[in-house]
Amino acid sequence: MNKSFKGRDFTRVLDFSKEELWYVLSYARDLKLKRMAGESLSILKGKILALIFEKPSLRTRVSFEVGMKELGGDTIYLSPQDIGLGKRESVKDTAEVISRYVSGIMVRTFSHKIVEELAEYSDVPVINGLSDTYHPCQAMGDMLTIWEKKGRIEGVNIAFIGDGNNVSNSLMLLSARLGANFSIASPKGYETKKEILDLAFLEAKKSGAKILVTSDPGEAVRNADVIYTDVWASMGQEEEKAEREKVFRPYQVNMELVKKAKSDVIIMHCLPAHRGEEVTDEVIDSPYSVVIQQAENRLHAQKAILALVL
Ligand code: CP
Ligand code: NVA
Repeated sequence: MNKSFKGRDFTRVLDFSKEELWYVLSYARDLKLKRMAGESLSILKGKILALIFEKPSLRTRVSFEVGMKELGGDTIYLSPQDIGLGKRESVKDTAEVISRYVSGIMVRTFSHKIVEELAEYSDVPVINGLSDTYHPCQAMGDMLTIWEKKGRIEGVNIAFIGDGNNVSNSLMLLSARLGANFSIASPKGYETKKEILDLAFLEAKKSGAKILVTSDPGEAVRNADVIYTDVWASMGQEEEKAEREKVFRPYQVNMELVKKAKSDVIIMHCLPAHRGEEVTDEVIDSPYSVVIQQAENRLHAQKAILALVL
């Protein structure tokens, strides 16, 4: 299995089969245990990962930098001012040139097409660190957390409250592929796009997962083992912020909503959170919340991906 990952891209969760995704999650768990035991590894000695950021970041940047360094490799950080993907230089030229210098590329950008184009023209693996459509590394860290907290993934009921965005798209597809049930409550006009839903239903048919799409948060969280939310306006949607604040108000994850789920529900959020908007302080600071463990697990999930594809 190990060898079959080498050289591959990870631009969306569906790039890996169900067995491969499980392999990554198990490997991430191993790496987490090794780190806790203070074991040092040099699997990626001599490898350099370029980190291309066209949007800000805390977790993604720090976890990729730390992850590479803990595996014996190194990173080069390229800020939104540096490359100008597709503006200062074509994505194709950038991909071909950078492939001659580094062993892998992590990219955070706007259009998912840019990630795909970069992957097409790079000779080295491209890992998606968030695009407007997908956030696959987030979904892997999230699923590792769900596995740790619930002891299983198949049959777990995950409820996402918010729009059909990069985070919910990736989590929906990963749930559908791995057999977790996924419900999403979004306001009218902010639902998951049809292309993503079609993919999710196709996956769910194979895995037996149930997918529920609703506009009612109460319906989505009924029987939920996990309630997940994200900011109302994602990076790049700054002008829509005021309008979204009005529309999404009834979609706040507060204690009243949490009480409608199972009594041992866990609360998840990819962070950064806008406290008082999509989630209340009371909920995110409650014993139900696993957001810090979830943020930590980005590191372990990504180390597994890096070690396998590089
Ligand atoms: N969750 C996440 O991707 O966080 P950053 O935007 O801080 O990287
Ligand atoms: N949906 C959010 C996720 C941030 C990690 C955004 O794209 O801004």
